[in-house]
Amino acid sequence: MSANQTRDILTLRGVRKSFGEAEIIRGVDLSLHAGERHALIGPNGAGKSTVFHLISGHYAVSEGVIALDGQEIQNATPQRINRAGLARSFQITNIFPKLTVYENLRMAVMRRFGVQNTIWRFISSYPVVREETERLLEQVRLQKRRDAVAGELSYSEQRSMEIAMTLASDPKVILLDEPMAGMSHEETDYTVELIKSVTQGRSLLIVEHDMNVVFSLCDRISVLVYGEVIATGSPDDIRNNHKVKEAYLGEEVSV
Ligand SMILES: Nc1ncnc2c1ncn2[C@@H]1O[C@H](COP(=O)(O)OP(=O)(O)OP(=O)(O)O)[C@@H](O)[C@H]1O
Ligand SMILES: [Mg+2]
Repeated sequence: MSANQTRDILTLRGVRKSFGEAEIIRGVDLSLHAGERHALIGPNGAGKSTVFHLISGHYAVSEGVIALDGQEIQNATPQRINRAGLARSFQITNIFPKLTVYENLRMAVMRRFGVQNTIWRFISSYPVVREETERLLEQVRLQKRRDAVAGELSYSEQRSMEIAMTLASDPKVILLDEPMAGMSHEETDYTVELIKSVTQGRSLLIVEHDMNVVFSLCDRISVLVYGEVIATGSPDDIRNNHKVKEAYLGEEVSV
């Protein structure tokens, strides 16, 4: 990565989150460089998904600052944060299982253009909507499945479609929370390649438990343990970090 790409596109400073008496996120500092693929790893219950919910506006922060491309977004609504350029995957509720792949993606594209439901049938034939939907189908390699009903797609095809829906808002920053969960080796390899290709020119923050995936996909890694980032660095830095080995990785990934 060249020096002029090391601008921070997303920063968290002193972010805290409590649920009642329990402080789950205990002062997180995290920077996502523009153009990088960055993994957030850590043991079960460390708070990774909670950090994602705080960034995307689905949870209110108790304390601290979150900035997207220089603009403070902590406690803004998910819709505003999405319009500001951040998209997160797997908002399953946005998927209509009885509609086709094409129709689902077209809905996602129309949301980007702020089209209301009342006029969507009319607008759906607009060339810009058609072109954008075609582009998404191609990007996630689902052209041949365009007329399949979403509910009947294979597991990894559904993940591909969800990634396409994430891309529909043309985000600067993408958050993926365990996108490879439940996949076979082949599906995982396929999805890693897909993520590499669709995140070109964007910035990615990904939660993933499979260390082979993390090490092959990501430029940098941050390790979250009990609501605190205990290390950030390149895959090699993290592999060789004693604190990380002790706290999390164990023998499993020793090299
Ligand atoms: N809405 C909530 N109310 C109360 N506690 C919560 C809430 N959301 C998360 N927690 C708690 O916060 C802690 C961190 O949960 P979180 O889901 O963020 O962990 P995680 O790192 O994503 O774990 P996993 O790897 O298992 O997905 C857990 O102890 C969880 O029970
Ligand atoms: Mg989680």
